[in-house]
Amino acid sequence: MPYNAKDYSRLLGMEGFSDTLLKNHFTLYQGYVTNTNKLIEISSLMVKEGKTGSPEFAEVKRRFGWEFNGMRLHEYYFENLGGRGGLGKNTKLFKKVSEDFGSYEAWEKEFKAVGAMRGIGWAILYQDHLTKQLFNFWINEHDGGHPSGCTPILILDVFEHAFMIDYGLKRADYIEAFFKNINWKTVEERIG
Ligand SMILES: [Fe+2]
Repeated sequence: MPYNAKDYSRLLGMEGFSDTLLKNHFTLYQGYVTNTNKLIEISSLMVKEGKTGSPEFAEVKRRFGWEFNGMRLHEYYFENLGGRGGLGKNTKLFKKVSEDFGSYEAWEKEFKAVGAMRGIGWAILYQDHLTKQLFNFWINEHDGGHPSGCTPILILDVFEHAFMIDYGLKRADYIEAFFKNINWKTVEERIG
C-alpha cells in the first residue's frame, strides 16, 4: 500500500475541539487513505486487463484526485493544529503575510472571511512557488480549483463534519478555536 494513515491522536484534548469530533474526523481521514490506495490498485489492474477505454476507468481516474487530495489536505490540516499562541512578529511568515496583504491583521481577516463563506470546502493559504506570492484560496470539493504550482501553507477544513458536532451552525466560533490551536511552527516550515 503506497499510503498509510497517520496518527493524530496527539490532538485529542485540544481546547475547543471535543474528542468525539476529532475521532470522527480521524476516521473520515482514514477512509480517504484507504480509498486512495484502493484506486491506485484498481487503476493498475484495469490497465493489465485492457479496460482503459471503459467509462469505469475514467471514473476511477476522476475519483483519484478527490480521494488523494482529501487524504493530503486532511494531513496538512491536522498537522497545522496542536500549537499554542499566535504567530511571532519576527517570523518569516509574519513578515511575508504583512508584505503581501498590507498587515498580518488584514491577512487574518481575509482568511477567516474565506473560511466563513457559504458552502462546504477548504480555506487555504497558498504560496505561488514561482513568485513566492501568498493567496487565500477557497476550494470546494478537493479535486477542483487548486492553483497549479502553489504550496499549501495553512489549511482550514470547513466541511460540516469539521465543526458541527461541537459548534452546530456557529462556524465563526469554530474558526476562532482553530486559530487558537494553529501550530505556527509547522506552518512556517511550509513557506519558501
Ligand atoms: Fe475534514
